[in-house]
Amino acid sequence: MHLLVVILPALLFVALRPLPVLAGGDAAKGEGIFTNRCSDCHMVRGDTVKKAPPLTGLFERVSGTWAGFDYSDAMKSAAIVWDEDTLTQFLKNPRGYVPKTKMPFNGLKRAGEAEDLIAYLRDATAD
Ligand code: HEC
Repeated sequence: MHLLVVILPALLFVALRPLPVLAGGDAAKGEGIFTNRCSDCHMVRGDTVKKAPPLTGLFERVSGTWAGFDYSDAMKSAAIVWDEDTLTQFLKNPRGYVPKTKMPFNGLKRAGEAEDLIAYLRDATAD
């Protein structure tokens, strides 16, 4: 009886601890997401404009500045510096983060998707 009084709270404590938050996403999963959801419109590297600008050198690039792509005024005037934080917000809800963007994409809604994709983009878009 006394033992139970000691053990039960201890068990509850272990069971109810929040799961550790994964630091950084899974780049391999991110590559699959890019292929399925982004690659119709974007190249990850190089100079080729498909339906949208390539993502070459994306990190630290300012939004709307790829020469040779006709961006929306919204994307140009947003002047966002793309990094982990701004990309996460944009990719989860493009039109929420850049109202009137012409990127026809509803956003990554499942938990962890944006993080996985960004882990992939970090290396894949490097010059
Ligand atoms: C159907 C085509 C399409 C799809 C799919 C798409 N995009 Fe885009 N994307 C665009 C267009 C068009 C723009 C330019 C938007 C503007 O000018 O408002 C854009 C802009 C961007 C920008 C800003 C680029 C810059 O130079 O500032 C990023 C970053 C981006 N997209 C990433 C992604 C990622 C990552 C995915 C996949 C989750 C994706 N896009 C899916 C068409 C698309």
